[in-house]
Amino acid sequence: MSEPMKPINVVVTGAAGQIAYSLLYQLAAGTVFGPDQPINLHLLDIPVMMKVLEGVVMELEDLALPLLREIVPTADPAVAFKDVAAAFLVGAMPRKEGMERKDLLAANVEIFKVQGEALDKYARKDVKILVVGNPANTNALICSHYAPSIPKQNFSAMTRLDQNRAQAALAARLNVQVDQVKKVIIWGNHSSTQYPDAAHATVTLQGSTKSVPAALNQDNWLQTTFVETIQKRGAAVIAARKMSSAMSAAKAAGDHMRDWWMGTKPGEYVSMAVFSDGSYGIPQNIVFSFPVTIEPHGQYKIVQGLPISEFARSKLTVTANELEEERAEAYKVLQKK
Ligand code: NAD
Ligand code: LMR
Repeated sequence: MSEPMKPINVVVTGAAGQIAYSLLYQLAAGTVFGPDQPINLHLLDIPVMMKVLEGVVMELEDLALPLLREIVPTADPAVAFKDVAAAFLVGAMPRKEGMERKDLLAANVEIFKVQGEALDKYARKDVKILVVGNPANTNALICSHYAPSIPKQNFSAMTRLDQNRAQAALAARLNVQVDQVKKVIIWGNHSSTQYPDAAHATVTLQGSTKSVPAALNQDNWLQTTFVETIQKRGAAVIAARKMSSAMSAAKAAGDHMRDWWMGTKPGEYVSMAVFSDGSYGIPQNIVFSFPVTIEPHGQYKIVQGLPISEFARSKLTVTANELEEERAEAYKVLQKK
């Protein structure tokens, strides 16, 4: 019989907030780190939220889930980040109707500086970090800047929600189950300049697999309505709910970390915002969403060699330019503090 696995420490920031409320169950139930991996949950929020966090802790206890070992609610980053193997950086202000996500830079970027410093001091050096708090790509860049002892490849930002949205929209258009659509890509920023790209996506229809553009035979829809709908989906949810997406964001965060931890399925790829290494001509030192494959317990690899049309190139340029602007703005904000 094999030895039982040792618990790992996992931190969730913004633990008293909306996304965390849906995320924590997934972590405790074993859907992210596997059904045999026990976890200690470190829950970070700000001091005024400690009472609310007490209620979240009570609910976690009442789940009666055997994989969940210690629960550590805290407002102290030194405690929260101690020896963590995985970090979900969710805690940040969400946008309101009429705002772009980058309007949150001034409010949120300082949080990611402080948490970068805490990761640097207290976390395991192989910690896998997923930034969810917006503007997620630039927050991940800043966080890494303040955690120089942790390899850049350990930082990522979430565009999985956009990927899931794109996959669901294509499945609805093609009238197939969502899992019959694969390989849709999100390029660039988790913002309204992102490029949801179905050019390489496939669909399985009655047992045979073909490319999504061929199955739809409508490049025009793919290049217009589809792209705009996914780019604006977060804003559409806010307009309807008066709060930003939470259930779907939590599910996407679980999907992102599970695939990073366990590996992607053979022959498939997923989108993650990671440090650009210059692939596809994207400037380095921005956190840009690319298609990646991951070996179980391994590092991600950016998928190479996909043909990029002129249309796609123009979209990639716009979103890369926005990320360079956000980077400049973030450093300006931090210099003023
Ligand atoms: P929320 O307001 O419900 O919760 C945020 C929590 O973070 C609050 O409890 C708050 O007290 C806490 N917090 C604030 N500063 C903190 C700090 N310094 N340390 C620890 N905790 C802190 O918001 P939410 O709906 O959970 O959204 C959180 C963030 O995620 C927002 O920035 C939102 O825009 C973003 N988001 C990103 C995606 C994505 O796809 N990347 C999707 C949805 C939401
Ligand atoms: C989303 O995509 O739903 C989140 O980033 C929240 C937002 O501000 O749109």
